[in-house]
Amino acid sequence: MKKKFTRNSAAFIGAALLMSVCSINVNAQTAAETAKMNAYVTGLMKKMTVDEKIGQLNLVTGGMAITGSVTNNGIGDGVKNGTIGGIFGLYGVAEVRKMQEAAVKGSRLHIPLIFGLDVIHGHRTIFPIPLGMSATWDLDLIKQSARIAAKEATAEGLNWVFSPMVDIARDARWGRISEGSGEDPYLGGRIAAAMVHGYQGTSLKNADAVMACVKHFALYGAAEAGREYNTVDMSRLAMYNYYLPPYKAAVDAGVGSIMSSFNVVDGVPSTVNKWLLTDLLRKQWGFKGFVVSDYTSLNEVTNHGLGDLKTVSSRAINAGLDMDMVGEGYLKTLKKSLQEKKVSMADIDRACRLILEAKYKLGLFDNPYKSLDAAREKSDIMTVANRVAARSAAEHSFVLLKNDDQILPLKKTGGSIALVGPLANNKRDMLGTWVIGGEWEKSVSVMEGIERVVGDKVKINYAKGSNITDDTTFIKRLNFGPGMVSLDKESPEDMIEDAVKAAKRSDIIVAVVGESQSMSGESSSRSDISIPESQQKMLRELKKLHKPMVLVLFNGRPLTLQWENDNATAILDVWAPGTEAGNAIANVLFGNYNPSGKLTTTFPRSVGQIPLYYNHLNTGRPYTTGPTKFKSNYLDIDNSPLYPFGYGLSYTKFQYSNLKLSKTNLKGNETLTATITVANTGNYTGEETVQLYIGDPEASISRPVKELKDFKKITLQVGQKKDVSFTITPDKLKFFNSNLKYDWEPGKFIIEVGTNSEITESATVNWMK
Ligand code: NOJ
Repeated sequence: MKKKFTRNSAAFIGAALLMSVCSINVNAQTAAETAKMNAYVTGLMKKMTVDEKIGQLNLVTGGMAITGSVTNNGIGDGVKNGTIGGIFGLYGVAEVRKMQEAAVKGSRLHIPLIFGLDVIHGHRTIFPIPLGMSATWDLDLIKQSARIAAKEATAEGLNWVFSPMVDIARDARWGRISEGSGEDPYLGGRIAAAMVHGYQGTSLKNADAVMACVKHFALYGAAEAGREYNTVDMSRLAMYNYYLPPYKAAVDAGVGSIMSSFNVVDGVPSTVNKWLLTDLLRKQWGFKGFVVSDYTSLNEVTNHGLGDLKTVSSRAINAGLDMDMVGEGYLKTLKKSLQEKKVSMADIDRACRLILEAKYKLGLFDNPYKSLDAAREKSDIMTVANRVAARSAAEHSFVLLKNDDQILPLKKTGGSIALVGPLANNKRDMLGTWVIGGEWEKSVSVMEGIERVVGDKVKINYAKGSNITDDTTFIKRLNFGPGMVSLDKESPEDMIEDAVKAAKRSDIIVAVVGESQSMSGESSSRSDISIPESQQKMLRELKKLHKPMVLVLFNGRPLTLQWENDNATAILDVWAPGTEAGNAIANVLFGNYNPSGKLTTTFPRSVGQIPLYYNHLNTGRPYTTGPTKFKSNYLDIDNSPLYPFGYGLSYTKFQYSNLKLSKTNLKGNETLTATITVANTGNYTGEETVQLYIGDPEASISRPVKELKDFKKITLQVGQKKDVSFTITPDKLKFFNSNLKYDWEPGKFIIEVGTNSEITESATVNWMK
């Protein structure tokens, strides 16, 4: 039995401060810098009227990107009369300069604007979607992608990005699972910190640094039934242990701003949730930046049932929301609420101060035009180096799900390939969700990539084979922008026949199938997460030819792939790879790069298993083997996923052996070392992500069967062996207990090291206090 815990709020707050997943704030100010900033902002605020202060809290959309259903009017006038604090959805040096000059030269107090945008996985040079980036398990590469995005974004006048999105998601029906880093709080936290560091650089004052905005605070990824914008209902324990750590890691890494989420947290919409925005975020976590609402999320609090715009706006400012995105609730109501004493001047001052501080930290008071350099706009965007980095990131993000008979890599000379599928000769769907600055015309299709790698040395027989979907109602919903998904002039039957003909003339089939760009992302939930029927029909016909069939799979979420797994020879999951898609895919298909990506989200066998995640609780009646009655399982399907968290194959083989622990009985703050030998026993040099999991089977609350606690990515030459060691301190054993106290409890722990969350070697230790 473990020790009993007692309620101790001081310990709780202290522990909450410790809850981070290794993230240091490289942008932290010195005391002298803070004092200087305070003096400057205080001086400025003394000159400001109430209207000007409220104006700073107003964020409007510039209209170059439509990311919500309402837009703002009269921006030019608002900038001049000081009723706008920032603009998002406007970029380009000329456009930004026009507005910045209007603010700096035209407004009474010459306060510069902040310019934001949804730069999510690259600005102009598009990297893989975040779910794909997370599959690299490569923090340097992820940080580098954010750095490149920041350079490109600042080259177009921006100084604020609405990223990283760190919402933990366990439900593949939710379209925005594509925008996050999957289901694991530890990995999610490490990635969140890497992104913040990448965006913000060494100093926010640098001309190529942007302020990051971590979102969506909080728990947005836990929408019931995976339906976008839906209710979230969750215990504090689940929040603290699984959902909050990535936001906290971003805060610890020094993120400058945070965006509230659309959902309720404990029944109160995040945007007006004082517990969330003040007690947790500022008092417990020590966040010093500003909080912005999501797009009209303040106005939507009325729909949540909390009152009219004036009521919810005063509640929001009291709760700790500083900036109001698009909805103008603050602009229209705060002054009146102040006069009626429903809000205090202190709250308006707090919010105004935080916005001005952000501008100060960005160096905009020193030089409001610091990133407005027309030469950089030409030289720093979509450079060869950026494209090479995006290509490499894409190669690292691909997950090899299956590779029977070592069919991959394909031979670069001789023979013939039937290249089929609606995504094979397609540029439009290469980029994925959130690509405001991305130009799909500049992306590389799979066909182009393959031609570049094999030239005329392999005969390529192309046929489109099917529409992305034949379902016209589905197409209407997917087409929120012009011409995103359309029906081919040829009939579905004729298209399949063409694909079959191409396959008959070829040795191998490469079918490029899956989801189009608009099938995942915001407002793109699906109840059926299989490959659309039109494409499945094509695959079923091709299967009848009994030829080797390789699937190149595009997807913004885990898909249900039972048939594909049973029938394809190989499956390469490429997510949505970005600008360099085709080049990266060809490099991997033909062995110029050996895939190393590992899943960061579980792939269920059927949608009915959702939510399915590796770090689940054991239950009182866990099912392992034997009779199923009165055990936790289904009558019609296994409990297990199709592909587990952490899973991903390589062209080579890695053999794990000889897990050794430095001790099996430990006490207090001792350190445990777990070492395993990994050998490359295959025929290719390869990268492997070695994963450490810990289970805590004796605790005061029910704990997950295992939790990821560390990982190391290594490269092994053919025949090479390496010992990989993990250092485990009691910090890795900590969790939030029923009193939300963050600590570890003595007893037995299971240490597991392996290639994915299911295949590990394990050993047990006793660790006493
Ligand atoms: C709504 C989305 O939820 C958020 O992620 C995005 O940053 C804003 N719109 C602004 O476009």
